[in-house]
Amino acid sequence: MTASPVVLGIESSCDETGVGLVRDGRLLGDAVATSMDEHARFGGVVPEIAARAHVHAVAPAVRAALDAAGLRRADIGAVAVTTGPGLSSALQVGVAAAKGFAFALDVPLYGVHHLAGHVAADTLEHGPLPNPCVVLIVSGGHTSLLLVRDLALDRIVHLGDTLDDAAGECFDKVARVFGLPYPGGPAIDRVARDGDPRAVAFPRALSGPRDDPYAFSFSGLKSAAARWAERTRAGGDPLPVADGAASLQEAVADVLTRKAVAACVEHDVRTLVVVGGVAANSRVRSLAQERCAAAGITLRVPPLRLCTDNGAMIAAVGDLLIKAGVAPAPLEMSIDASAPLEYASLQPVAGPSPAALAAAQGA
Ligand code: KG4
Ligand code: ZN
Repeated sequence: MTASPVVLGIESSCDETGVGLVRDGRLLGDAVATSMDEHARFGGVVPEIAARAHVHAVAPAVRAALDAAGLRRADIGAVAVTTGPGLSSALQVGVAAAKGFAFALDVPLYGVHHLAGHVAADTLEHGPLPNPCVVLIVSGGHTSLLLVRDLALDRIVHLGDTLDDAAGECFDKVARVFGLPYPGGPAIDRVARDGDPRAVAFPRALSGPRDDPYAFSFSGLKSAAARWAERTRAGGDPLPVADGAASLQEAVADVLTRKAVAACVEHDVRTLVVVGGVAANSRVRSLAQERCAAAGITLRVPPLRLCTDNGAMIAAVGDLLIKAGVAPAPLEMSIDASAPLEYASLQPVAGPSPAALAAAQGA
């Protein structure tokens, strides 16, 4: 049997330049550079600033990951890269770098869906995913409850998605209203430690008996938190930020974990995997643990540093795709900034747009 190749993973969909090296489900070395501080004064990620930062960071990050793994460039046997979803200009940088490495090293290239990367992150810590498992994916841009079979080969089943804001987006936007620094999620988590989660009765959307059991909505919660802050400030009182943050975090964690556990029970699945940036939230983690234990469900959550964006998770998907025999991507592979999550392998190839084709046919 031939040894599995070392997979170089590159992630650049947002403000983190992540590089990871994975072989046979094992993380050999990684490096993450972030342009977060450059966005802080704008209160959100500025795509062109992120893209330029990726240009500066990607080659040094590859070198740092190789050094951490004690490997040389020539040891790389395949390259995997996030092709979407994410910020177009940021994705382009990672894809261009990945193509350069794949071409120069003459190794296969794989396009990876960013969210599948978040799912695969957990395998680096806890081993292969059981088939099937329920995955709750909660990030800055996405909130979905998934039924995952073979991550590398099978179509991912969406049990439910958010109808409006993502959970992380809700944290980020409310943190801004509360006067907390960017990024908001970790800031809310920090100040919530000193607050009372029962202080403010924030709404739990779509939790009634007639509601879609697995759909999410966080825009009502965001508005309720903003109104509460406005009312309190208008009354002349200082805003009890810790209580607001703890109550907001409780509302988010309550809805996420209740629906995720209900999905496991209904589908008779014994493993829940919680991934994405919001899986780093301390209350989401503790409440998920409590409720899974009560329902006899095994909970898997990646370690904190693998929850937020990184390159190791993209390398992990590449490793799984190679093992499953998925065909590599052509070097003309493109990005897909708004790719829906259907398969882990995402290898869009640029072609004429439907409008250009129609015009050509009409001519
Ligand atoms: O997965 P991720 O790193 O990037 C995306 O793909 O979106 O997720 C980033 C999101 C941000 O909204 C951030 O505020 C949130 O994850 N986040 C947290 C925590 N750490 C990161 N939210 C709540 N509590 C945290 N500790
Ligand atoms: Zn992400």
